Amino acid sequence: MCGIVGYAGGQQAAPILLEGLAKLEYRGYDSAGICVHGAKEMQVVKAKGRLKVLCEKTQDGASVPGTVGIGHTRWATHGAPSDANSHPHLSDSGSVAVVHNGIIENEAKLRSWLMERGVRFHSETDTEVVANLVGYYYDKDGNFIAAVRRALRQLEGSYALGFLCADLPNLIVAAKKDSPLIFGYGDGENFVASDVPAILKHTQTVSYMEDGEMVVFDGHNVRFFDGMGDPVEKQRETVTWELSAAERGGFDHFMLKEIFEQPKALKDTISPRLKNGQVVFEGIDLSAAYLKDVRKIHLVACGSAYYVSVLAKYIIEKACHIPTEAAMASEFRYAEPVVDEHDLVIIISQSGETADTLAALREAKRLGAKTLAIVNVVGSAIAKTADQTIYTWAGPEIAVATTKAYSTQLAVVYLLTAYMARQLGTMDEETYHAWVQALENLPAAAERVLCPENVETVQFLASRYYGHHDAFYIGRNVDSAICLEGSLKLKEVAYLHSEAYPAGELKHGPISLIENGTLVVAMATVAPLFDKMMANIREVKARGADVLCVTLEESAEEAAKQTDNILTIPKVLPVFQPSLSIIPLQLFAYYVALNRGCDVDKPRNLAKSVTVE
Ligand code: G6P
Repeated sequence: MCGIVGYAGGQQAAPILLEGLAKLEYRGYDSAGICVHGAKEMQVVKAKGRLKVLCEKTQDGASVPGTVGIGHTRWATHGAPSDANSHPHLSDSGSVAVVHNGIIENEAKLRSWLMERGVRFHSETDTEVVANLVGYYYDKDGNFIAAVRRALRQLEGSYALGFLCADLPNLIVAAKKDSPLIFGYGDGENFVASDVPAILKHTQTVSYMEDGEMVVFDGHNVRFFDGMGDPVEKQRETVTWELSAAERGGFDHFMLKEIFEQPKALKDTISPRLKNGQVVFEGIDLSAAYLKDVRKIHLVACGSAYYVSVLAKYIIEKACHIPTEAAMASEFRYAEPVVDEHDLVIIISQSGETADTLAALREAKRLGAKTLAIVNVVGSAIAKTADQTIYTWAGPEIAVATTKAYSTQLAVVYLLTAYMARQLGTMDEETYHAWVQALENLPAAAERVLCPENVETVQFLASRYYGHHDAFYIGRNVDSAICLEGSLKLKEVAYLHSEAYPAGELKHGPISLIENGTLVVAMATVAPLFDKMMANIREVKARGADVLCVTLEESAEEAAKQTDNILTIPKVLPVFQPSLSIIPLQLFAYYVALNRGCDVDKPRNLAKSVTVE
């Protein structure tokens, strides 16, 4: 949600800002804007809608000359998407421009305070309060950095902010609290951005800004300050991603590219954690003595990461014999959860910045629990806040609908489960080695699921079903958890109404909705429950459903007795089956969305990083 970028250097800023914003589109947005300092004055151009509208309006930046500027993609929270509500916002006097990612919670109070002092507002946004507050102090005493600092002290809420001052043509000031911000070092030019892909073309040397920090820079000089206003030295880090990782690389969509990247992402996540037949986590401290005292494990997350948690409950509880619950972060934080120092709270998040997940993590810490985060984005708020962090090495995920992040989160769950079960002594030697072997083989097995014949079958089935209005995903045990994610994918990218239900619950409600031609996706990969699933398929077929069954290669013949539409996956150790069965469901959602003409990578109303509650 919302992305910011800033550039100061010797090149024309506008094209660089527009290019950077294009790389932040994945975060979700509904309008965009830039402000560039020409030598004499600041020029703001903004536009509701896709970035291409802003590109057209500025002739790809050519009509906005100047070498210092800030840009923004906005996902509306305060005020509808409109030109007026788009960022950058100018202070009433025009002396200050600002872009903002986050929410200013005390905006109403500050707005009244400023209005009482004669300041006028021109939009409905919370951000304009920031522009006017800084403008108010700056117009009074002419010290820009002091004005920013003073305003920041009054702000409540979350922000990554970028400022320009009309009187200081070379300078950018940026600051952050609870929203991501990175600084990028170039040669005679410098950058700030919400995320690495926005500047990766120009530099791989970055500093991750911490909460409360502020940076003041031009093309040649940079100074960092902490929350108290004292100078700080920042560590420079090298981003290891190749530029190609954030490009589509010949694929029509990022979602398809990321689906196909899963074998590599799995390998990158799993391999460094397997050494000499053992699962190892460097820097993670979960001793046998500690684990034996854990009363309960809570898995807390949002969206697809929550669905990984639902699956993880089956996996961890069975292998580790510790009661385990999955909770949606937005519910957990207000539910007064029974959590204390005897509990382990595992937080799962791709972005590491989901507002509810971060808040739930803080609540768990406040209650005294030990916290462990599974995160993809290095240096993100959740990664920094948790007691311990295990990274998924999925690389940048750009499509709004997650695929490879989901798969690698699940891979970490397997690694962690094997690790904990070993410590606890709840997994015998033979099973442990079978798990390690299965983990080693998982990337190759995922590669097999993505073979051209399978992809073609999914494409064919998608072309057959894309016109349906409703879909029901049913399955038992771990398959029921996979249904949740498969069904979510279809909703997200294909805008098709879809529900996921444990197959055994079908008769307690949803079966009343099955009529002639209703699409039912039936997962039948849990061998001991195969016959029960076939019975469920017969039940829905008897009511007219059109059934698509996902099952093991070895069960295809048997499943074919119930339905013609079958997708198969290879057999692996049963507990690992979900890592493979999710892949055809991701592909199915993708191809259905294509057939329906949907904007696959940027589905309507959705954002990749949900930074508001
Ligand atoms: C959004 C994304 C989902 C993601 C969820 C949680 O809804 O579209 O793909 O699963 O947020 O995000 P997180 O970054 O915390 O995993």
